[in-house]
This record gives sequence, C-alpha cells and structure tokens, in this order.
Amino acid sequence: MKILSVFGTRPEAIKMAPLVKALGGSAEIESVVCVTGQHQQMLQQVLDLFDIVPQYNLELMTRNQTLNGLSSRLLASFDDVLETVRPDRILVHGDTTSAMVSALAAFHRRIPVGHVEAGLRTGDLSQPWPEEMNRRTIDVCADLLFAPTESSRHNLQAENLGGRIVVTGNTVIDALLQTTGRILADQPFRERLDAHFPFLRDDRKLLLVTGHRRENFGTGFANICEALAQLARRDDIQIVYPVHLNPNVQGPVQDKLSGLPNVHLIEPLDYALFVRLMQRAHVILTDSGGVQEEAPSLGKPVLVMRNVTERPEAVHAGTVRLVGTEVASIVQSVNHLYDNDDAWRAFSQRLNPYGDGEASQRIVAALTGAPMSEFLHDQQAAA
Ligand code: UD1
Ligand code: UDP
Repeated sequence: MKILSVFGTRPEAIKMAPLVKALGGSAEIESVVCVTGQHQQMLQQVLDLFDIVPQYNLELMTRNQTLNGLSSRLLASFDDVLETVRPDRILVHGDTTSAMVSALAAFHRRIPVGHVEAGLRTGDLSQPWPEEMNRRTIDVCADLLFAPTESSRHNLQAENLGGRIVVTGNTVIDALLQTTGRILADQPFRERLDAHFPFLRDDRKLLLVTGHRRENFGTGFANICEALAQLARRDDIQIVYPVHLNPNVQGPVQDKLSGLPNVHLIEPLDYALFVRLMQRAHVILTDSGGVQEEAPSLGKPVLVMRNVTERPEAVHAGTVRLVGTEVASIVQSVNHLYDNDDAWRAFSQRLNPYGDGEASQRIVAALTGAPMSEFLHDQQAAA
C-alpha cells in the first residue's frame, strides 16, 4: 500500500512526524512524504529535529502569501506529484491551506484521503479563519476520519459524513511524549536546550506567549501587545515570546514590544526548545491550537486569546481558559494566576485529554487492518 503523506506548516509537521515514523516502520506500507513548503524556516526546523527527508518538496512559500495565490500554486504542483507517485491514498493533517488543497487535488483524481485530526469544530466559519472551512471541506472529501477525541467523533457523526471514523488520540501527544522522554532521559540534551535561554532568571515567573491567528491581525494583535506591555511592568514576571515569522505578526509585535524591560522577543524555536520552555513556564498565553493540546499534558495553565475553541476538552477540565483579545481581560486573567497561588494550582493539573502517545500506531493499524488498542479518553484515568 503506497501512502503519500502531505503537509506544509510547522504544526502539521510536528503532528505528522510521529506518524511518518510509524508508517515507515510498517512492512505493509510504502511511505512517501511530500512537503508543500507553505512554511519555509519553521517547517525545516521540524524536519531537521525529527530527521525526516521528504521525497518531494514543492517549496511554495512566498513572503506574505495570499490564500488564493498559495492555493492555486499548490493545486497545480501537487497534481504533478500525484501523477508521478500514484499513491493508493494520501494522508493530510488538520486545517491548513496545504491540507485542504491537497485533499481536493486527491479527490479530483479519485484517490482516497485520510484526515488526521478530523472533526474539530467551532461552528463558526470566521473563527478560526480560514481553518474552520478547511477542516470541514477535508472531512467531506475523506473516506477515513481519524478523530482525536470522542468530542470530535460526535462532531463528525452529527454531520452524517461518508467516511469511517476512528478515534485515535492526537498525534501531537506522540510528538510531545517522545520529546519530553528525551529531555528527561538525556541530561546533556537537556543542558543544551537550557543553554539557549541564558537570559531566564530564577526569581521571575515565566509567561510564555505565542500568537499568529489571522482573525487577530490588526486590532487583536494591537490589544495583545498592549496587554503584554502592561504585564511587563510586574516585578515578578519575565515574558518570552517566540514571534511567528508572518509579517502581519512580526510588524506590530516588534514595533510595540521590542526593547521593553522583561520582554524577550525571540525567533520561532525548534520544537524541543519550545517544549523545554513550556516545561519552565508559569503560565502560557497563546492563540495556538497545538499549544492548547500540549500544555495540559505538562500541567501548565493556558490562557487562550480567542473567543471560541475547537478543543473544548481542557476547557471543561479547567486547565485552559478562553480570555479573548481585549486588553483588560488578558491582563486581569494573567494577574489572577500570578497573584493567587490557589487559583494557579487548581489550573495546573496534569491531564491528557488529547492523547496517550499511541495515536500514530492506531492510525497505522486502521490503515493495515491490524488490531488496535482503544484510546483511553477518560481525562483523569488517562492522566
Ligand atoms: C498557517 C496556517 C494556520 C496555522 C499556521 C501555523 C493557513 C491558512 N494557515 O498560518 O492554520 O495555524 O500556519 O503556524 O494554512 N513565514 C515565513 N517563514 C515561515 C513561515 C511563514 O517567512 O517559515 C511568513 C511568510 O511571509 C508567509 C507568511 O508567514 O507568507 C504566512 O504564512 P502562511 O502559512 O500563509 O500563514 P500562517 O499565518 O503561518
Ligand atoms: N511551537 C514550536 N516553536 C515555537 C512555537 C510553537 O515548535 O516557537 C510548536 C508548539 O509546541 C505546537 C506548534 O508549534 O506544537 C503550534 O504551532 P502554531 O501555533 O504555529 O500553529 P497551530 O497549532 O495554531 O495551528
């Protein structure tokens, strides 16, 4: 069975890396990898860390690319790869333009599509934009729907889609546990990671920040920067923000925050370095999807700068809270966790609602017809 995995951005690469390894380890599967290059530097970081050498790299990224420009170039280029490889199936992940357009290209050629991380929904096409449309479109095209959780299974069932649904857990937890396992077991590796952050002080609590959502461009990012500038005045805080390379993020963040005391604006980190920073964080403030899934496994409180989330499990469990993008709400929510140890402790439970490290193996088992363990989705039991 020839399986073509295709992905193009940092989070897809992180979440597909363990699956690519698992596919490569199956005697029944010939695994081929195509990266679209929707991201360039942030994709290469992940390929290097997980030692993945793609057979095809479409190198599509252009500076400040438009969705239509990227989509049209991808549809044409990926069709050539399909013509050459002639896979039995393609696998795409999540909700990016790379994933949606690749699924469409395969659908046009009547090649079956497997969707990893199927069934996430906010129910609002404008949040996240354009991802909510992308993920729905892929789920319509796909004949195999790898739902990470029971809640994503229910979303898919409610839409009466044609694909077979398999609940697997999220592959991001495979990647996370492989990385934390190495950090724990390999002291020189851990020391090399820590040596990247000589500026971190033991007497200040780390607020780790990421942000990149398109619906937050403009007012949202202006508010986020203002909130960070206010929080930086605390004498017990140090803010570290690895700034996404999108020019719409770099512009306002560098303009408003560079040079501020207690604020460290740094380059996007490779995955192991970022996991190490999450481990050292007191609170994480983000609009990222992947970080919402990883942080509960690390027992770290997450404040999400969005109004809705497609990842409700940790919100229900009380370790993730939506704080929107208003200045006052962000500032008050961070201050509350910094000033109130009981609130911080209640928020810092270690939970694994999103996975148990076996998701990639379950996906391979579903593809080959091998028996598979059930994903233990009870949050407390899986923790
Ligand atoms: C994309 C995905 C989003 C995902 C995010 C993860 C879409 C529509 N959006 O958003 O779902 O959450 O990736 O980070 O698919 N850039 C670089 N170097 C890089 C990466 C990006 O310079 O390594 C700059 C380029 O100028 C590029 C721009 O960022 O044109 C935007 O990249 P793009 O992939 O279009 O959008 P993201 O906002 O990164
Ligand atoms: N991440 C990383 N380096 C960073 C910031 C984030 O490796 O500097 C990882 C993070 O651990 C998570 C993923 O990138 O696995 C999230 O990517 P992003 O926020 O860009 O996309 P999203 O998850 O929102 O689609």
